Amino acid sequence: MDRNEQKRQAALRALDFVEDGSVIGVGTGSTVAHFIDGLGKIRNRIEGAVSSSEQSTRQLESLGIPVLDLNAVGELSLYVDGADECDPHRRLIKGGGAALTREKIVAAASREFICIIDDSKQVDILGKFPLPVEVVPMARSHVGREIARLGGQPVWRDGVVTDNDGWILDVHGWSIIDPVDLEAKLNQIVGVISNGLFAARPADRVIVGDRILDQ
Ligand code: A5P
Repeated sequence: MDRNEQKRQAALRALDFVEDGSVIGVGTGSTVAHFIDGLGKIRNRIEGAVSSSEQSTRQLESLGIPVLDLNAVGELSLYVDGADECDPHRRLIKGGGAALTREKIVAAASREFICIIDDSKQVDILGKFPLPVEVVPMARSHVGREIARLGGQPVWRDGVVTDNDGWILDVHGWSIIDPVDLEAKLNQIVGVISNGLFAARPADRVIVGDRILDQ
């Protein structure tokens, strides 16, 4: 199965977890685009979706799925999103599409987070994929220096402005042995909006192609 077909299969499997009448948290990216297409086909069964990006919002709306404000709904039963890397403990690197902050917020507000990926995303140790860190623009150099003190090599994703008007530093050179610790350390740097490690709140379930991984 090629990568795109694996993404499509994973998205289809995730649709089985959608409860009737619920509001679904929806991530961002090419894998989630397949999930949104599937949601479009069952749109009469759900109340709507909370979106993690302008990109996903446009696709949801084009399919007639109501996009709801997270502040107007309670805890979500389900959040479905892709990832750039996934380790055996379901800890993730996300943010390749620059949507990490809203993704993290919706994941935090959801009871179950299902991560849908193709097998190229599975790694033993996170960090080969450069770790995205979203920063307040005026803090870019300061945050970059602090990251260098932690041993990372930050590269500014020049020209990219996030949905929150933030900028992205992609951090190279890390083999992330303790992602929970690094996630917390990065969050403590003044000027960091959020970082792409989803380790303190990992995925609850991972679907790789048509396979649901054992918990
Ligand atoms: C978006 O910011 C990311 O977190 C995506 O979830 C991640 O990049 C996966 O994208 P694909 O599904 O396109 O591989």
